[in-house]
Amino acid sequence: MHIHIFDTPGDVAAALARRVADALAPRPDLVLGLPTGRTPIAMYAELRRLHAAGEADFSHAVTFNLDEFAGVEPAHPGSFRQYMETHLFGAVNLPRDRIHFLDGAAPDLDAECRRYEQEIEAYGGIDLQILGIGANGHIGFNEPGEQLLARTHRVTLADSTRRDNAALFGGDQARVPREALSMGMGTILKARALILVAMGERKATWIERTINGPVTTRLPASFLQLHRRADLYLDRDAARLL
Ligand code: F6R
Repeated sequence: MHIHIFDTPGDVAAALARRVADALAPRPDLVLGLPTGRTPIAMYAELRRLHAAGEADFSHAVTFNLDEFAGVEPAHPGSFRQYMETHLFGAVNLPRDRIHFLDGAAPDLDAECRRYEQEIEAYGGIDLQILGIGANGHIGFNEPGEQLLARTHRVTLADSTRRDNAALFGGDQARVPREALSMGMGTILKARALILVAMGERKATWIERTINGPVTTRLPASFLQLHRRADLYLDRDAARLL
């Protein structure tokens, strides 16, 4: 894995956004895999800024988001779809029909997962997948456990994940759905390039194990060790134990 350590979270966000813009310039129809969460907020702000400055063109780009809460309509204010509208889609020239999202309110969630896999395949797979890492080492919503599923699937969210996402549901963990849909680890690892982003001391232990520990389903991020082109973008706090 290629490790990039930056002084501040702002430096991480600027470098990431620049990497995305630089990837789009020669390949305008780049297929991007995108995360939500607190970590990428500053990167999306920087991408909006680059777009406004004429330095990031999304007019031919394609996006697939990693995950969505089950039972949550795309228009729900707590949905990841709305997060993306706020932080990126509403402010750049990405055509609506090139945005791809799991629909957490689909009548048949298993069929919805299959549909998503087929759409990713139809675009020839993901070129650049950006990832955060959960406070329990999850990737997308692939939670640590006895086993990991390869393809897009329904997941039962860990308590810690529901706690970490409570802010999207009025600060009330009880209102965070118990289930979600997530790209699987195989889907993620098939992306041609991966970038894992982590900031803050809270992520330091998992980052150290992701890089130096065994590959284990107990730490989904450790599977990135198996990828031929995985970059880690870290601030000093997240890299503290390296
Ligand atoms: C969100 C996602 C999650 C987050 C992770 C980190 O789409 O896939 O894996 O990246 O939970 O979240 P933050 O950035 O809030 O610490």
